[in-house]
Amino acid sequence: MEERLKELKEEALQLVEKAANLKELNGIRVSYLGKKGPITEVLKGMGKLSPEERPKMGALANEVRDTIAKAIENKQAVLEEEEVQRKLAAEKIDVTLPGRPVKVGNAHPLIRIIEEIEDLFIGMGYTVAEGPEVETDYYNFEALNLPKGHPARDMQDSFYITEDILMRTHTSPMQARVMEKNKGKGPVKIIVPGKVYRRDNDDATHSHQFTQIEGLVVDENIRLSDLKGTLEVFAKKIFGEDREIRLRPSFFPFTEPSVEMDISCKICGGDGCSVCKGTGWIEILGAGMVHPNVLEMSGYDPKKYTGFAFGMGPERIAMLKYGIDDIRHFYTNDIRFLKQFSVHE
Ligand code: DAH
Repeated sequence: MEERLKELKEEALQLVEKAANLKELNGIRVSYLGKKGPITEVLKGMGKLSPEERPKMGALANEVRDTIAKAIENKQAVLEEEEVQRKLAAEKIDVTLPGRPVKVGNAHPLIRIIEEIEDLFIGMGYTVAEGPEVETDYYNFEALNLPKGHPARDMQDSFYITEDILMRTHTSPMQARVMEKNKGKGPVKIIVPGKVYRRDNDDATHSHQFTQIEGLVVDENIRLSDLKGTLEVFAKKIFGEDREIRLRPSFFPFTEPSVEMDISCKICGGDGCSVCKGTGWIEILGAGMVHPNVLEMSGYDPKKYTGFAFGMGPERIAMLKYGIDDIRHFYTNDIRFLKQFSVHE
């Protein structure tokens, strides 16, 4: 019996020593120290021993049990520590690795040019006003000296919603709305950026929806020279100090006189090329002195007040400024196009 116990001890200690993981170790514990284990089995034969031998065997059995238990405990601590080290190694983070670049969005090029123009006019004392895109026939046409049946209405093919409501074809209706709100008193100095809609077939230079920026200045003694000076500052700030401007007579029902402003062509320096169609000049916007009828209909006394107005298309301005050849680039959201205007890369 003594032999057998010593054998078991050796056997168990060797297995414990070789145990590769906690699960294996637990298996050894159960099989050697459990109630149905070989030590218990050996002790069942105690009855056959003499009374002197019994306590000796009991003590030996306890010693074997304790030794194995102690060995298991020690091995467990070693294996647990190994497990921690393994996890630490596997989960190690290399903080010196370069990070993944985060993709950052950008203001759309149209928004950028609109904000640039807004800033310029804010610097000259203007405030920014915005108005509804769904507009009444009255503000879109009538209040701008375009009564029903006026032939100039055909210049702006419209999306009608009902007979009296349409998608605004220009930002000019805000002229009437703002003056009416002021009840015919005091100066007006606003710009109005916003979307406008026309029943056009989309192509390189036309879009059924595009943007405009309207300007309106009304006060006592506002003159055409004020308009010209303002437009000159605008053109040089946006396109460069070296650009010349010229005003050509034109026609708009809501202004009298009406003008169109051209800037000198940067590509050919005025000699004539394909961009300026051989003229040396590029048309930028429409403008004029506010028609007395328009002032009067919105409550301003044309004998006391005069004003100037202008309207421009940010798409056209951005196209000329950045050399963009197709207006549809602004609306198709091709990331390769938009990225060229990134301020982050
Ligand atoms: N509303 C005109 C258009 O969409 C542009 C325009 C021309 C606006 C002359 C004005 C102006 O304020 O004075 O074609």
